[in-house]
Amino acid sequence: MDGQYVLITGGTNGIGLAAARELAAQGARIGLVARNRGKAEGVAAELGGADVFEADLTSQGSIREMVTDVRERAPGIDVLVNNAGAMYGTHQVSADGIELTWALNVIAPYLITTLLAAKLTPDGRVIGTASDEHKRAKRIEFDDLSGEQYFSASARLSGGGMRRYGETKLALILLTQEMARHGIRAYSFEPGFVATGFNTNNGRLMRLMMAMAKPFARSPEKGAETLVWLATDADEPSGGYYSNKKLIEPSPAAQDRQAAERLWKTLEEQVSGR
Ligand SMILES: NC(=O)c1ccc[n+]([C@@H]2O[C@H](COP(=O)([O-])OP(=O)(O)OC[C@H]3O[C@@H](n4cnc5c(N)ncnc54)[C@H](OP(=O)(O)O)[C@@H]3O)[C@@H](O)[C@H]2O)c1
Repeated sequence: MDGQYVLITGGTNGIGLAAARELAAQGARIGLVARNRGKAEGVAAELGGADVFEADLTSQGSIREMVTDVRERAPGIDVLVNNAGAMYGTHQVSADGIELTWALNVIAPYLITTLLAAKLTPDGRVIGTASDEHKRAKRIEFDDLSGEQYFSASARLSGGGMRRYGETKLALILLTQEMARHGIRAYSFEPGFVATGFNTNNGRLMRLMMAMAKPFARSPEKGAETLVWLATDADEPSGGYYSNKKLIEPSPAAQDRQAAERLWKTLEEQVSGR
């Protein structure tokens, strides 16, 4: 990775941090897109130097400012990693009026990638951290983009937040295929169940459950292995979904080309005029 530039979101914790460490160890220069500048500067120091680009990825305005900064300060991007993501157990809305899981897990990767596509090097690639949880969603609910159905009192009790999360990861897999059809070399992958900060933002009970599940989870280093492999291996076909460093088949809903095309148009609309 000597001389390669890797721009990564969510590189301050969990899977992204493990990937940033490994890629830096292999010689890459890292650009950290992070909401917490102090935390990111600590990581940058640990990596022996990295660029920090501040952004709250739930805000389209913040993403656009960050992109301007990246265009000015970063060299050509060899690897863009859309890794930041989260699950929200309650219905929350971004500064743009968009449900938060969708804003962070779907709109951010779309907006960052389309705005920075011209900054990718000729051999550059985009990697999205998806999840096998995408199988929870049978389709993209285009008539309910704000995800109301997942957050009623009864839906929340039966894991509505997690189903919404699954829908956003389904969207990320479809989005990756659509990036490939738009001429962007792109991959999505699933890291397995990994011991990170994931789902520690949903109250004490969830934090406790995640702590109890930790012994059964992979290390962040193991969870980052496929990401690092995709970042360093040039020969994989674009648009695929990967697990344990292998191409795998996602759910039938994640192979629905019409849904992917409709999603792309929907996202275009959701970011236009903001
Ligand atoms: N853990 C798992 O088992 C698992 C399984 C499948 C997929 N994934 C996916 O893996 C990816 C990484 O998650 P993780 O498990 O490593 O969780 P994590 O430890 O919580 O890390 C999430 C990263 O995203 C950043 N982030 C969150 N919200 C942000 C925002 N609004 N703006 C900017 N950055 C933001 C966090 O920043 P801070 O450091 O400031 O918090 C952190 O760096 C996610 O896409 C997740 O959905 C995880």
